[in-house]
Amino acid sequence: MKMMAFSCRQDEMEFFRQFGEQYGVEVETTKEAPCMENAELLKGCQAACVLTTPVDAQLIDQWHQYGVQLISTRTVGFEHVDYRHAAKLGIAVTNATYTPDTVAEYTIMTILMAIRKMKIILNRYIGQDFSLRNVRGRELGPMTVGVVGTGRIGQRVIELLGGFGCEILAYDLEHKEEVRRLARYVSLETIWEECDLITFHTPATEETCHMVNRHTIGQMKDGVVLINMARGSIIDTEALIEGLETGKVGAAALDVVENEGSIYYKDFKDRPVCCREMSILSAMPNVLMTPHTAFFTQEAVSDMVECAMLSCARLKAGEKDPLRVNG
Ligand code: COI
Repeated sequence: MKMMAFSCRQDEMEFFRQFGEQYGVEVETTKEAPCMENAELLKGCQAACVLTTPVDAQLIDQWHQYGVQLISTRTVGFEHVDYRHAAKLGIAVTNATYTPDTVAEYTIMTILMAIRKMKIILNRYIGQDFSLRNVRGRELGPMTVGVVGTGRIGQRVIELLGGFGCEILAYDLEHKEEVRRLARYVSLETIWEECDLITFHTPATEETCHMVNRHTIGQMKDGVVLINMARGSIIDTEALIEGLETGKVGAAALDVVENEGSIYYKDFKDRPVCCREMSILSAMPNVLMTPHTAFFTQEAVSDMVECAMLSCARLKAGEKDPLRVNG
């Protein structure tokens, strides 16, 4: 079983070697992202391993002609792969699961940074401005915190929040007993109306697209703090900018933003970033932005590569794969 792994970074190489050997998978790696121009790399391979680059129907058709049976994305989210099209061709699409602590801990860090105005404090320190003007923060304990999405990451965020003494309201279609012990499940409307801070942990779907918009921001408390470590499409960026400009939204921490795909993980030090909304947000003192790095720990990277190797080994053995997302 041979796998072609795209978009490989140096820090992943030791894991590709280690897990390739462990699971008996022959792996070729490339720094290149998958595209029609390099589709031929798949000749002689049964599996493709991708990261965040869109894999559309045309590319899947081409890979199918070369005999590809598995597309494994070493990410939790899989909306960038046309998995429905792959299913029609009998190609399995699998994703990764990794420790929820990586994103959950990052979420708690950014929540605290947002409510303690850490961006302003750190920027001022660089200029040796040690004044206390406008940097008085708030404590988490007296706040009502909303957690939208109580999957593995949302649940872990709730568990960690439990130590701060805040009231926690949760929203999800599915209610979990473990979450009920620490939080109260309520409607989305109640989350909007009652929470001082709302953190999002939902996948990118049609239902979650722009769930934060002009209307829902209007329902929120004045000065609400919004935290998004999940997917950019959850928040209508224009509406968020408006909310921040009027002060309706008091602060935000965003590890993800709409249209980040062509920008994040590239170096724009010497050239303009052509995404105005992103530039407007990142210039705001009360908006903390990071380039989709919440996942990036040694533990998670290891898990991501291991999942891809495992899926390949399961395909080889003809075993059912719990990581399969398309049937
Ligand atoms: C995921 O695993 O879904 C992530 O968000 C991280 C990925 C973009 C590298």
